[in-house]
Parts: sequence; C-alpha cells; structure tokens
Amino acid sequence: PVNLLGRSVLKLMDFSPDEIRFLLRLSAALKQAKYGGYEQQRLRGRNIALIFEKDSTRTRTGFEVAAYDQGAHVTYLGPTGTQIGKKESMKDTARVLGRIYDAIEYRGFGQQQAELLAEWSGVPVYNGLTDEFHPTQILADFLTMREFTRKHLSQLAFCFLGDAGNNMGNSLLEGAALIGMDVRLGAPRDCWPDAALVARCREIAETTGARITLTEDPAEAARGCDFVYTDVWVSMGDPEEVWAGRIEKLTPYRVTRQVMEATGNPHAKFMHCLPAFHNRETEIGEKIFRDYGIDCMEVTEEVFESAASIVFDQAENRMHTIKAMLVATLAG
Ligand code: CP
Ligand code: NVA
Repeated sequence: PVNLLGRSVLKLMDFSPDEIRFLLRLSAALKQAKYGGYEQQRLRGRNIALIFEKDSTRTRTGFEVAAYDQGAHVTYLGPTGTQIGKKESMKDTARVLGRIYDAIEYRGFGQQQAELLAEWSGVPVYNGLTDEFHPTQILADFLTMREFTRKHLSQLAFCFLGDAGNNMGNSLLEGAALIGMDVRLGAPRDCWPDAALVARCREIAETTGARITLTEDPAEAARGCDFVYTDVWVSMGDPEEVWAGRIEKLTPYRVTRQVMEATGNPHAKFMHCLPAFHNRETEIGEKIFRDYGIDCMEVTEEVFESAASIVFDQAENRMHTIKAMLVATLAG
C-alpha cells in the first residue's frame, strides 16, 4: 500500500513507480469528484506557503485553487517582499516557515535550495520548478497522456525536442524511466541532459522496461511517437547571452507540421508545458521578431493551434495533479 504522508516532492526519482501511479490515479479521482460535485475537503485549516523566486501563471494558480478546493489556505511569497536570500538564508527561512506552515511550495533557481528547505523546515516541500527539475509538471503531463490515449502509460512513446537538458527535459526523462515509457530526446549533443542523470535513468529503465534514446536527429526522435513535446529554448534564469546561440542551434528542432508528420502517427498529439513562443503576440514574441526575424521559436503557430495540440488540457491538469500531491502528502 502506498502512503505518501509527510513526503516532500523535490524530484520524481525520489518516488517509486507505484507511488507515481498512485498520484496519477488520485488526480483522476479528484478531477472526477470536482466536476461531479462530490469533492470532499481533506485539507481544511491547513496552511501552505508558496515561495516564487521566478514568475508563474499555472503553478501558482494550480497550487492556490487546489488548496482552496480542499479547504486549505495559502500565502504567496513572491520574488520581492520577503527576507529570503537578501537578509535571510534558506536554512533560516525553512526553520521559520516550518513553524508557521504545514507545507511549502518552492519555485526558484538551484535544486539545492529546495533540498535545504525540505531538510530544515520539517514539513513537506514541493518543487514548483527549479533550474534542474519540474516534477509537478510531469504529473500533469502523464495524466494528460493517459486521458488522450487508450494505451497504458508504459506502452506510450514520446519525444522531447529542443533544450533537452533543461528542467523539463530532465524531469520528463526521469518520469519516463520510472513509468517504463519509450522516451526520445531530440537535441544537439550539448543540449542533452547531464551524463550522470542519463546514466541514473538508464539504470532505472533496466528495472522498468523503459526505452531511452538520445539523438541529434529530430525525425528519428519523432518516428512512431504518440506525443511530441517541446519547451522554450531559453528558460527562466538562463543568461541573456544564450538567446542567439540557442535560436541558431535549436531551429532544426522546432515542432512544425513536418515533425508531426514524421511521427507517422495520424493521432500523434502536441504537448508543451507553457508558456510557449509560437507567435508575436507577447513582448518576447516581438523581441525575437525584431532581433532575429522569426515569428516563432520552439513550435509553429500552425501546430500550436492545431487539433493535435493538447497544451491547455495539460495546463488544467496542473491543478488536479497538484491537488492530489497535496492531499496525499498532507492528509495521507
Ligand atoms: N508550466 C508552468 O510551470 O507554467 P508557469 O511558469 O506559468 O507556472
Ligand atoms: N523550461 C522552462 C519551463 C517553464 C515552465 C523554464 O524553466 O523557464
């Protein structure tokens, strides 16, 4: 029997395949309960701190609404307005918040900061995205994959194209290894995940039956896939200097209609954790057009707006999966 009471969620590898499957089943059940009008509040009176050192739309609102639905309260601690970092270390912050809150969400830069919070607060800490990992996003993605196919997750193949060594590439790789999926990372070699992480995921794959492919050929990565996934080429916290190089290097990995067709699967779906740079309708969109003469980066407007795109289902599922994580770790 799975019991996640009191556990932190810092990266997926800290969990067994059964524990992850349990969270996905609970997510689906809580989603049904909400829309069926029979959700039961199991977190009444609980207080959760939400630390965001980087901006967020989905993760913040996902945590807030999940908490409210379950009767818990949240405090948003944004990039400014607290003592964190400037006057107070993470170790001290952890010991303060651990006295006042029942759990802490942390979005920031180093994974090590999330680990410090978990070590010193004495309450569950949830990684809401670090430079290295984005575990709660992957729970939403796997729930979404399950909703859009009849196959078991372990029978699915997906590719991730672009900056495969970022937090999304890393976390999709560890998630796929744990669940036993066929995962292909299509990226230039210097954008592959850290060799130690790949080695660890290959070890996990031996026990779960996962298949891991790293390739520089986007068409090879896409062939036979049920899902084509991409993410931004420049992540929050990446230095300004990387823009030009990334655009040049990653343009061959842009998700276009041709890439979707290269799957050979007419039912293949397009996925993205969002936000996405698929047109010029944002400040960044205008900037890349002005500076580089392109009107999209990692995905074309055509694919993003196509019937194959399930990106807003993923976004919605952030809330349901975060809720399952809160319930499992705080109510048991
Ligand atoms: N996908 C995701 O984490 O989005 P936010 O940055 O809006 O939270
Ligand atoms: N890789 C992106 C993911 C955003 C959800 C970033 O870190 O900015």
